[in-house]
Amino acid sequence: MKNINLAIHSSDQMYTAFHGEDSVSTDFRDFLLCEYYRKGYELALIVKKSIEQWIPNKETPKILELPSGFGRVTRHLRAMYPKSLIDCVDVEPEAVSFLTTQFGVNATRCEVDDWKYEFLNSSFYDLGVMGSLITHFNEQKSKSILLSFFSKIAPGGVAIVTFHGERSYELMKQKNIYQVQPEDASNMLRGYETVGFGFAKYKSGHSMESGTTELVGHEYGFSMNSLDWLLAQSKDCRMELVECRFGAWDDHQDVAIFRKV
Ligand SMILES: C[S@@+](CC[C@H](N)C(=O)[O-])C[C@H]1O[C@@H](n2cnc3c(N)ncnc32)[C@H](O)[C@@H]1O
Repeated sequence: MKNINLAIHSSDQMYTAFHGEDSVSTDFRDFLLCEYYRKGYELALIVKKSIEQWIPNKETPKILELPSGFGRVTRHLRAMYPKSLIDCVDVEPEAVSFLTTQFGVNATRCEVDDWKYEFLNSSFYDLGVMGSLITHFNEQKSKSILLSFFSKIAPGGVAIVTFHGERSYELMKQKNIYQVQPEDASNMLRGYETVGFGFAKYKSGHSMESGTTELVGHEYGFSMNSLDWLLAQSKDCRMELVECRFGAWDDHQDVAIFRKV
């Protein structure tokens, strides 16, 4: 890892949500900080390897990151591709200005109910990465998000989608690790088992992404989907699965890599 901008925004819940109380020790804070950088790097590395394998323009690929949050992954993409066009999208206004000033990317704020992202060019990007977005919405919204995301990828380009799939299902069966009500957790698991998709809202007072829930509303919860469900969405968008890595991101999200034919 070289030339990484290490700045972290105080509202970045991908970092602060895991802090807990002020009583957390300095050693533990240091550990969380390392984890934050490691998780960002982990997904950025999957992006890099995919570009090396599939994209002819290896030096300056056009990259879309949707959503970008406060740049957990973006900072690594920028360090790996200093001259690339990197377009980022998020609903968080603070995140969008932070990304623009810190990482020199084109960050755009979308509306909370925007599932079309019409301000982005269609069939344009060499690579699109969606780190943990359909992991938060119900089935109908997740379908719309995917349809739009896939439409932005150029022919021959790559789309990377992370999701709560097989690995999360196994973990969730053992323990309710995602802060949803027990009965909602059971319904979500049943949905996953029967139709390949389950959704639950976070329980009140949760610490996972309370700021985002406040901004987006209770539509923002926790979802799980099977790989078959994801394949059904990708089929009509001319996306072919080239690889699925189970639990490859953040020790619980599966990572699907598609190529547009
Ligand atoms: C779990 S975070 C992941 C952020 C980033 N990919 C990362 O790994 O740090 C989910 C992000 O989705 C954003 N978000 C919520 N609704 C959205 C929407 N309709 N379109 C784009 N982003 C959205 C939230 O603001 C939040 O930053």
